[in-house]
Amino acid sequence: MEEEKGYRSDPDAAGGGSPAGAGIGVLELGTYCGYSTLLIAQALPPGGRLLTVERDPRTAAVAEKLIRLAGFDEHMVELIVGSSEEVIPCLRTQYQLSRADLVLLIHRPRCYLRDLQLLEAHALLPAGATVLADHVLFPGAPRFLQYAKSCGRYRCRLYHTGLPDFPAIKDGIAQLTYAGPG
Ligand SMILES: C[S@@+](CC[C@H](N)C(=O)[O-])C[C@H]1O[C@@H](n2cnc3c(N)ncnc32)[C@H](O)[C@@H]1O
Repeated sequence: MEEEKGYRSDPDAAGGGSPAGAGIGVLELGTYCGYSTLLIAQALPPGGRLLTVERDPRTAAVAEKLIRLAGFDEHMVELIVGSSEEVIPCLRTQYQLSRADLVLLIHRPRCYLRDLQLLEAHALLPAGATVLADHVLFPGAPRFLQYAKSCGRYRCRLYHTGLPDFPAIKDGIAQLTYAGPG
């Protein structure tokens, strides 16, 4: 796995699997109150669509209000209340998401591997798709990282990050580029 220090804005991280970003599909797992949702929504190209999944209905209700207050309609940003493992298998049929060009895993590191494999099993990742996974070093997602590095279907980069109030704790974001089912 290549390693880089610090955050870096990477325009290729969004829309890698979609020509010129047209009709890009973005999937976020772990909305909470919608902070990252709004940042992603602002960066969506025309015709792009963001689906964000939150299992806690109370925080989802707050996020729903903030997303609509910010001016994004349901066509552009759809908030799905449910657990990732229940929602992913329904994305194609119930939510008309046929491809996730960019996936953000920001919900629960111990679920990252299961959910990545669910996305693969339901053929939701096009070749060239980007998967960004937060907190892969703390609390950590070792099985996810091991799988991504060893299965032969991903190019992996690790960006080292820290927690603002706890500089001694080292964390990281993984960027995976999907090569296809192989
Ligand atoms: C770290 S917070 C997300 C932070 C958020 N993206 C932001 O920018 O503020 C993680 C969220 O994931 C949700 N979550 C945890 N496990 C989940 C799952 N399996 N499916 C969907 N949401 C989940 C939690 O309820 C929590 O709101």
